[in-house]
Amino acid sequence: MGTLIVSGGRRLRGAVRVAGGKNSSLAVIAAAALAPDVSTLDNVPACRDVATLVAILEALGVRVSRAGGRLTIDARGLRGHVAPYDLCRSMRASFYTAGVLLGRSGRAQVPLPGGCSIGARPVDFHLRGFAALGARVATEHGYMKASTRRLKGTSFYVPRSSVGTTINLMMAATTARGTTVLQNAAREPEVVDCAVFLNLMGARVRGAGTDTITIEGVATLHGNAYTIIPDRLEAGTYLLAGAATGGDVLVEGMIPEHVTALLTKLEEAGAEVVRDTDGVRVRGGELRAVDVDTAPYPGFATDLHPQMVAVLTQARGTSTIRETIFEARFAYTDELRRMGADIKVEGESVHVTGPARLTGAPVEAPDIRGGAAVLIGALAAAGDTEIAQVENLDRGYEGLEAKLTALGARVARGGAMRAAEAGG
Ligand code: EPZ
Repeated sequence: MGTLIVSGGRRLRGAVRVAGGKNSSLAVIAAAALAPDVSTLDNVPACRDVATLVAILEALGVRVSRAGGRLTIDARGLRGHVAPYDLCRSMRASFYTAGVLLGRSGRAQVPLPGGCSIGARPVDFHLRGFAALGARVATEHGYMKASTRRLKGTSFYVPRSSVGTTINLMMAATTARGTTVLQNAAREPEVVDCAVFLNLMGARVRGAGTDTITIEGVATLHGNAYTIIPDRLEAGTYLLAGAATGGDVLVEGMIPEHVTALLTKLEEAGAEVVRDTDGVRVRGGELRAVDVDTAPYPGFATDLHPQMVAVLTQARGTSTIRETIFEARFAYTDELRRMGADIKVEGESVHVTGPARLTGAPVEAPDIRGGAAVLIGALAAAGDTEIAQVENLDRGYEGLEAKLTALGARVARGGAMRAAEAGG
């Protein structure tokens, strides 16, 4: 279990280029395996979650090779229908293999993804959707088992906005007999990116980005080339790190419209935000408390809530962040409190009062975005912080040290620092 050592209290200044979207990559990589063909995907981030999904697909006979940000996915050899248990348990997006295997071969045996530190995260909507598409679905021995001769188009209302359910059912429905209508579909950019790629594969998906997606089934799909959209969550994280340290950070290669709710809240809190065609620049300064409700896209992203709280520890007054998507994504607050943050969690709301003088402390990254919040706290804190379980940060952020160092931060892997001290 690695650590990251951060020597905080320095204003971040400079430019950083955002990587390709992790969550979009996970959906598009899975979609590529729907076709008995070869696809090349560009701008794929080298983060742990992508590596995990690649390993799962390779266990199913898909051949994947990487050259820089380009993945070549040869799914002609996909065989079997049982996804590997341990690999799947470690990452929820592994459940996309259910939609892929059902869409490709009509049979799927996929481990039920565990919950994690942000909530129970059931997949009941996915299972109901597959059943609505005509599959026989059962859960036993920790697996979902589903089978059908061929999926049948249907109309399905997703009980609440769900990115994973929308993407999984959209993928499965591409080769169903007849037309499928997904109502109350998620509108996240990752859904749109996956739909665009599916259509390049020969699928007939309409309405992605709205709450009603129509998929007209086709007999087969073929491979294609595609470039993944930039990662709106990585972009938001670096902008928030700039705001928290009173710095001046330019994030290049991002799509400002993907984080409108965040930029609006940063301006309300008193940060200076400059939107450019190819990026966004945030200058910190005297920040004031704001209230935030997370919401499905285009609302304030739940995956930026922990990082926003870390910034608001430095804002004057008391802010309230209401988390409406996940019931338990508050583990990071314990870690920020170790650094001196004044934070109270009441029900689904976090109340944070500032400005608090944060000091470095031994902490841990409880999950991807909770880890990002702890990292932002460490960057703003006086003194050194050692962040344990840094693997959780690596799940969603590629090239962390290089990007932070380019912004003037002083960070290093714990092992590296120790080895250097020991002359190893
Ligand atoms: C995706 O997770 C993202 N992951 C998450 O990002 C993100 O936080 C989430 O969407 C936001 O909605 C990927 O794209 C790989 P959901 P997903 O289905 O699809 C409940 C990160 O940090 N629900 O939209 O798993 C669920 O419990 C990750 O990059 C059911 O009850 O999320 C949650 O409360 C973390 N039953 C809500 O819906 C279901 O069958 C939204 O979840 C499915 C979901």
